[in-house]
Amino acid sequence: MDKVLILDFGSQYTQLIARRIREVGVYAEILSGESPLEPARLEGVKGIILSGSPHSAYEAGAPAPDPSVFSCGLPILGICYGIQWLTLSRGGKVERLPEREYGRKQVHISSPDPLLEGLPPTFTSWMSHGDSIAAPAPGFQVLAESEGGIPAALRAPAAGIWGLQFHPEVSHCEGGTRILENFACGICGAAKEWSMAAYLEAERASIRARVGGEDVLLLISGGVDSTVAGAFLLETLDPDRVHLLYIDTGLMRKAESEEVMLNLRALGARHLHMAEAEADFLSRLAGVESPEEKRRIIGDLFIEIQEREVARLGIPEAILVQGTLYTDLIESGKGVGTKAQVIKSHHNVRSPLVEKKRAAGKVLEPLDRLYKDEVRALGRLLGLPESVVGRHPFPGPGLGVRILGEVSKERCDILREADAVYIAELRARGLYDRIWQAFSVLLPVRSVGVAGDERKYGSVLALRAVVSEDGMTADVYPFETKDLLGISSAITNKVPAIGRVVYDISSKPPATIEWE
Ligand code: XMP
Repeated sequence: MDKVLILDFGSQYTQLIARRIREVGVYAEILSGESPLEPARLEGVKGIILSGSPHSAYEAGAPAPDPSVFSCGLPILGICYGIQWLTLSRGGKVERLPEREYGRKQVHISSPDPLLEGLPPTFTSWMSHGDSIAAPAPGFQVLAESEGGIPAALRAPAAGIWGLQFHPEVSHCEGGTRILENFACGICGAAKEWSMAAYLEAERASIRARVGGEDVLLLISGGVDSTVAGAFLLETLDPDRVHLLYIDTGLMRKAESEEVMLNLRALGARHLHMAEAEADFLSRLAGVESPEEKRRIIGDLFIEIQEREVARLGIPEAILVQGTLYTDLIESGKGVGTKAQVIKSHHNVRSPLVEKKRAAGKVLEPLDRLYKDEVRALGRLLGLPESVVGRHPFPGPGLGVRILGEVSKERCDILREADAVYIAELRARGLYDRIWQAFSVLLPVRSVGVAGDERKYGSVLALRAVVSEDGMTADVYPFETKDLLGISSAITNKVPAIGRVVYDISSKPPATIEWE
């Protein structure tokens, strides 16, 4: 398949570059910026993009691509740091700006170019840079400038290099996707061969060849990813060979475990194993208040139970299948490596069982090239209902990180009830699908209220609702006041233990999406 290779130098936006290019139907892959570009890596590659970076191109030890990036004969597009590094390495000048250029900025095109085809003469770009090109390298021509007179787009025709100071991958950039499409299809000539149907067909053939007649075991978490992986296995392999294991931690949402089981049965699952582990989790969490400690306990116990259950199932040789996504590998530091910020670790990537199986070549991750929205598209293609594929993400440690302070059965039950009312209200008001992730958090404080003539102390519930592309950054969902008021009274009417409801109005950054 034709593809565009993105060399990542640690920009927070690198993931978005790949997603945008895939959105127009061209396959894009991310590699660590300094990876050797040996011929096998360049198979099918039609063009290379150098990403942005938190580094300055002129500092000692600034990350650089393999020098063969210039000799491989492929078109190159540098974005932000990428074009600054290219400028310096070709004899131009890059300097620190007196003031950062940040946010929406007008860009004026001075010289038409295939890269900017279809854009108006002046358009709104998205800038985020503290350094800038002070003198273009010999052979480079400025194609557009920002309102501050800073080079915004450049080209070196003889060298096959293009550059952008702004970020076309950020959704606030007008025509940004068109620019990336112009590069991938117009300049590089990459064919639009990336579609979920094509992926499904290729992945099916490859999984059948790898599995042969062996048993496979899929660890189900209840979320979208593992359910789609389950659907994929059940329709690709002999269902008699497909074993599904679900661990009920007691930290799941209301009726979640029953729903997971029902969904998988509806898909034709024959070997569906549920490990009831609520009592184990709650007893280990008793008396623990520290968020870090809770996460560690939940992660360790999850792995312990997973190992125990796998041994109990009596299929020691089974191939382990996981619903790992492209972002999971990258966020766990296994994809692009040292330059990417390690955002969170997933127990599915770190567990000793998985490492042992991996060493024996017995791990399959059929979704590991896909982004979340692509997994959803695959789920739809496999016939999964919208209620499953459209579900908001849910963290591995579950309600354990949404109950601040000590986790107990009673507090889990209160949160489950309140959250179920919140989500039902969102669905009834037609808001659920407009929000990327919504959930409730039970706070470790009680507050005074009135019930009839009496004063009573009730629990405080915080509501969270965010819009996001991928969870890396998030904006608060701007509810209408009438919705917030309606949701609040539905919760306090239906869940007597909740005496007060507050709405979290913090974006990420500086806050994270979860509270712990
Ligand atoms: P934060 O809180 O880091 O969350 O802004 C970003 C996204 O990741 C989810 N999240 C997790 N998912 N294991 C997971 O599988 C975890 O430990 C974990 N912590 C956060 C969170 O729900 C949000 O979608």
